[in-house]
Amino acid sequence: MIELEALFKITYGLFIVCSGDKSRGNGYISNTVFQVTADPPQFAICCSKNNFTAEFIKKTGVFSVSVLEQETPSEILGRFGFKSGRDFNKLEGMSVKYGETNVPIVLDSSLAYMEFSVINTVEAGTHLIFIGKLIQSVLLDKAKEPLTYQYYRQVRNGTASKNAPTYIDKSKLEAVKASESFEKYRCMCCGFIYNEEKEKIRFSELPDSWTCPVCGSDKSDFIEV
Ligand SMILES: Cc1cc2nc3c(=O)[nH]c(=O)nc-3n(C[C@H](O)[C@H](O)[C@H](O)COP(=O)(O)O)c2cc1C
Repeated sequence: MIELEALFKITYGLFIVCSGDKSRGNGYISNTVFQVTADPPQFAICCSKNNFTAEFIKKTGVFSVSVLEQETPSEILGRFGFKSGRDFNKLEGMSVKYGETNVPIVLDSSLAYMEFSVINTVEAGTHLIFIGKLIQSVLLDKAKEPLTYQYYRQVRNGTASKNAPTYIDKSKLEAVKASESFEKYRCMCCGFIYNEEKEKIRFSELPDSWTCPVCGSDKSDFIEV
């Protein structure tokens, strides 16, 4: 038996993983960053083969990890977690510094960052596991709390996008129950569901300036489920 809800009991953090160099870089939201060994300090990330960022990591052999703070704006989560760097330069307008290897590092909403050089790549079907040797790690903010995947899901109503290794097709988890009096609306960009019954406000009554709490998309990007 595979009980999908059991998988939600595994805890994760949320990060921006970046790669590239000073001429062009890119990044994506990741919840799969973990330390593999202490001595030497090595870390692993699990990156979809479809992510544009994967191309940069393969090409440059370096990546950075920025640890996101709990109140990271939805705009940043939307930009890095639901949109592709193939369509626009995600780093434009962001506060970015370059590491010892010239890898871009996002500083916005970051509590700490790390820089790695890839020492091994493991094939994992839809994903690649990049194992990196730690080059440097810097603490930027001691006081703020990091954003956990659980907080993102439960408090901020966030969802994972399709390339996330932990993505679960909601239709498999629970059949969407149509209610006679309440409707649900799905964000076409990130998949967030606006549930009228839960929110106690009709979708039609929300102002036009209302945006998706997860990815910041416009109200017009929602369709009725
Ligand atoms: C909460 C969340 C967690 C995610 N975790 C991962 C992850 O661990 N690995 C991954 O490859 N993609 C993950 N993604 C998906 C990527 O962030 C997403 O596909 C992104 O748009 C890829 O950007 P790129 O194509 O510009 O590299 C996650 C997305 C979200 C919203």
